[in-house]
Amino acid sequence: MRISVIGAGYVGLVTAVGLSSLGHLVICADKNEERINRLRRGIIPFRENGLDEKLQHHLDQSNISFTHDTGIAVRGSNVLIIAVGTPQAPDGNADLSYLWQAVDEIASNTMEKKTIIVKSTVPPGTCDQIEQSLVSRKIDSLILDVVHNPEFLRQGSAVNDFFNPDRIIIGCKNENSPSLLQNMYFGLQSPFLVYDRSTAELIKYASNAFLALKISFINMLSDLSEKLGADIEQISEGIGMDKRIGSAFLKAGIGYGGSCFPKDIRAMQHFAAIHHIPMPLLYAVEEINAQRPELIVEACKQHFGSLRKRRILLLGLAFKPFTDDIRESPALAVSSLLLEQGVELHAYDPWVQHFPVQNVSCFQDPYQAIEGCEAVVLLTDWPQFRQLNWERICRKIKNGLIFDGRNQFTTNEIMPLINRHAIKYRSIGRPNLGKTAIVQQFNEETLFMLPEENDFTNSGLLKKAAL
Ligand code: UDX
Ligand code: UDX
Repeated sequence: MRISVIGAGYVGLVTAVGLSSLGHLVICADKNEERINRLRRGIIPFRENGLDEKLQHHLDQSNISFTHDTGIAVRGSNVLIIAVGTPQAPDGNADLSYLWQAVDEIASNTMEKKTIIVKSTVPPGTCDQIEQSLVSRKIDSLILDVVHNPEFLRQGSAVNDFFNPDRIIIGCKNENSPSLLQNMYFGLQSPFLVYDRSTAELIKYASNAFLALKISFINMLSDLSEKLGADIEQISEGIGMDKRIGSAFLKAGIGYGGSCFPKDIRAMQHFAAIHHIPMPLLYAVEEINAQRPELIVEACKQHFGSLRKRRILLLGLAFKPFTDDIRESPALAVSSLLLEQGVELHAYDPWVQHFPVQNVSCFQDPYQAIEGCEAVVLLTDWPQFRQLNWERICRKIKNGLIFDGRNQFTTNEIMPLINRHAIKYRSIGRPNLGKTAIVQQFNEETLFMLPEENDFTNSGLLKKAAL
């Protein structure tokens, strides 16, 4: 099949390259001319495992091409996939302006029968509105269907997710559309689920909302777990073994980020409110997530007292590993909160090159970044962070603090280090390890000032200091 994909972002580009791999002839359009010029040379505007090799291969095979003229793409295929961004609008709703731009381009370049496939995440009813818009432009006779075919691609594993979807959702009106999409996805061993369009549109939001709900649930539970001296990692394992619950997306941490969960939760709140349907869980999920970064500030204050002029290293800026995407990353909130406390921030992330928060000094080398720091805050669970020379790092932050925002270390792994270097280790939902600097400082000052022990051995002061 000849297929055109409109939008060469995280979703559109992966979809275009994936469909080329399934044997189709793909034209990928994006209005960002610079992006298109780089894609024609095989240069991808973001990091995504395995995508560059596949792109180069299909460029060499000439079964994928790029244009910044959407009209060329529309005229070049009878199957048009819209994969433009639907970011969050100021009022929380999905901003569909890019989508309607794409629909306008389709309408003004359609002279023969087309099937439009909306892959972008859109509020329920949007595909019906697109169809109505085409009717009003009197080209509905040329549009065989407006199909909703949501994506479930995770950044960092999007190529793998494209080829191994758990299910392929099709929301359509024309009875021939399912076979068209089965041909399009021929080669993928996944069940097809065919519904009406609004059902398909809502499935996408519901999927992301439920995944975010699982994350906020385990994070909410981690606060209680830490208070009770329990271990959230073990709780997660214990509940996740129940097949009805499942262990995926039960990893406690400093919260979810990315371009999807936050904006899709808010969009869902918005369109549910328009229909006067209360969705209290969605607000709780968001509130729990928004509170996570404050845990770090609290832990730093507990350890150091005043944070003014303290130098702290943030390890990880991306919202998750294997991406350079910082959209709604917890690192944005954490860095802003710490800067408000007068902290001097250093940062290191293996892939993120640009971090928009002012006054965060980003380094290319973690051992340069650690110079002069008194605390390390782990924000992204990059596997390579576990391979760093933590003996060297702990020597630098002696008597300092490690806040493991993604529970990257087990207690047994970290205990020898923190004991050797008198470091406080805080994590999510697990017992705290090591002494707080204030106590250590009090001990050292108090013990240092005290005359010979025998004058005070039985006094409360020495005992208190030793606590
Ligand atoms: C995707 C989905 O499309 C979105 O619905 C979902 O909510 C998040 O994932 P994403 O691929 O991340 O969005 O969007 P983005 O990375 O912003 O890429 C969108 C691309 O579309 C941009 O490169 C933009 O230049 C392009 N675009 C936008 C067009 O080519 N034409 C337009 O009219 C508008
Ligand atoms: C998500 C959905 O998984 C995907 O199906 C949809 O198409 C787009 O949105 P993505 O946002 O790329 O994908 O990444 P994901 O792996 O879902 O992680 C999202 C956030 O949740 C990250 O910040 C991650 O660190 C966090 N997370 C994930 C947790 O905190 N705990 C977990 O157990 C899993």
